[in-house]
Formats: sequence, structure tokens, C-alpha cells
Amino acid sequence: MKVKGQHYRTIWFAPPVVFLIEQNLLPFSFQIVKCADFQATCRAIKNMTVRGAGAIGAAAGFAMAQALLAKVDPLKAKKEIEATRPTAQNLFYAAERVFQAADPVACAQKIADEDAASCQRIGELGSQLIIDGMRIETHCNAGWLAFVDYGTALAPIYAARDQGKNVFVYVDETRPRGQGARLTAWELFNEKIPHAIIPDNAGASLMSQGKVDMVIVGADRIAANGDVANKIGTLEKALAAHEYGIPFYVAAPTATIDLQCASGQDIPIEERSEKEVTHQSGINEEGQNSTILVCSPGSTAYNPAFDVTPAKYITKIITERGVVAAPAALFL
Ligand code: MRU
Repeated sequence: MKVKGQHYRTIWFAPPVVFLIEQNLLPFSFQIVKCADFQATCRAIKNMTVRGAGAIGAAAGFAMAQALLAKVDPLKAKKEIEATRPTAQNLFYAAERVFQAADPVACAQKIADEDAASCQRIGELGSQLIIDGMRIETHCNAGWLAFVDYGTALAPIYAARDQGKNVFVYVDETRPRGQGARLTAWELFNEKIPHAIIPDNAGASLMSQGKVDMVIVGADRIAANGDVANKIGTLEKALAAHEYGIPFYVAAPTATIDLQCASGQDIPIEERSEKEVTHQSGINEEGQNSTILVCSPGSTAYNPAFDVTPAKYITKIITERGVVAAPAALFL
């Protein structure tokens, strides 16, 4: 996608260096970070310089290739990469594939290219579900920043816009880290797609008033039975959409499907620091980065980063191989 007229991928590899967009600084500052070795790429995944299932999948593949180029013990490196974040399946998929590959650099590049191509196809297929004038709600950021390019939940919206359809997007702010307010809104603003950031707790009310025609979200891991782990708060949107008869779509590449997880109960859910809940970051009126306490001093917090939406609340899953009711249909 383009930033100020120039095309960027979220992450790319010029061996031995991995380049990535520093997502913690967006939307206030656009900077490219260089990771010279696999440890630096691991740190970038861990501290969420790079985030989103497809993007951290590509990062994990590149990190594995960096480790192999540097003759680091492959098993040790793979374990270190896999310990960076626990929920997104793409990370484990990519680390394993590159670990097994005869040509790790070519394999890692291929995984990144496949991610971009899958997302482009998800956009084409998903756009067929969008009717001119629709108002679409999305949660978190499953745009191009969360993948190598195009995105998943936002790809159908971009494709529908390119087809001349008018769409309006309700962007859940997605506390505590604000990926909706900071990243999805930034993407949509750059693409001149009309949108409104809404408080996380507004979705059900808007749905009850007939203001939402469709919900599209991404996925971090999809279990064999079709249960979906996605950013915390997704489940509430799915329940509300079900109650009000609003189609609820999940868009994800097949690299996000984990057939080893029979159901959502088997998906590891990341718990993150209390500070993400008790504090908020942004820029102050002088334009400087600032972090402030936003709760009663001394209170503790609990911060699960993902939730699991049972398959029964999901209308269809949009993948690069087709729009399906259950993942099993893709692997027959
Ligand atoms: O914690 P993050 O920002 O890495 O979470 C990933 C996400 O952005 C969402 O869960 C998203 O909806 C699916 S991943 C494209």
C-alpha cells in the first residue's frame, strides 16, 4: 500500500537485514526500523514494532532465515522465535517452514510473497460480499499493517472501493493498545475511505439501531472446528451481530488455520502487561510522545490480548482459497 505516494510493504528482507515499519510510533510518526540479526527481529516482534498475524509470520520466517545465515543453532533459534508471541498461528507456521527449508532465504521471501498474494485474493473474494453503500464495522487492525500488504479484514473494503462502491467503516478503537484508533484509522484516512472511530463499547448499540450492515474482522488463529482467536473484544461484536442478524465475517489466509487445535479452547491466549491497561500513550499538545496513568493509582489490571469466538457466531471465513463456512472444507 502507499504512504505519501510511495509503495511500502510492512516488512521486507534484504539479507541479512530485515526492514520493518515501526508500528508503535504510528500514526504520529512513520519510521523504518532495521533488524540486523535474528535477535533484533525477535525483539521487534516481542515489543510489537511489528504486529498483526501475517506481519509477525513474515518476521518469524525472516528471523529464522537470519539465524540460519548466521549459523546460530537452528533449534535454539526456532525456540526463541516461537517464544516471542504465543497466539498468532502464522508465526509458528513460518518459523517451521523456514526451519525445514533447503534454501531458508528463498523460503522466507516466498512466505512473505504468499502472504501478500493471499491478502490480495481475500480482498477480491471478500469484496463480492460488499454492496454499495454498506456500513461495515471492524475490530483492531487487520489491514495492510497487520500483514505484508493489503490486509485481510480491510482488503475487501479496499477492493470494493476500487470497484467504485461506497463504503463507510466503523472502526472500534480497540483498547488497550488502540490498534483500531491508531492503525486502522490511519490506513483508512490515507486511503480516503470514510470512517468513524467508535468507542469499543459502542458496537452493540449501533447494531441495535440498524447502523451496521456487516462486520469483518481478522484472525490470529483459527481452530479446526472454525473457532477464531482474534483481538480481545471480537467475541462481544460477534454476539451482538448474531443477536441483530448482522453478517459477521472473519478474513484470514489459510496460514492462520491450525488444524492441530481441535477447538478454540486449545488456542494459547497471550496475556500482556497491566501497564497497557492502566496507562495510555499518545502525543501531547506540543507533539511529544507522552504516557499517562488513566486509572485509579494502585489498582491492578488484567490484560488478555485475544478472545475466542465460537464458530457458530461466524457467518463465513474469507480465505484466499474461498469463502467457507468451516476450515475443514479447505483441506479436503
Ligand atoms: O496484538 P496484535 O496487534 O498483533 O493483534 C493482532 C491483530 O491485529 C488482530 O487480532 C487482528 O484482528 C488479527 S491479526 C491480522
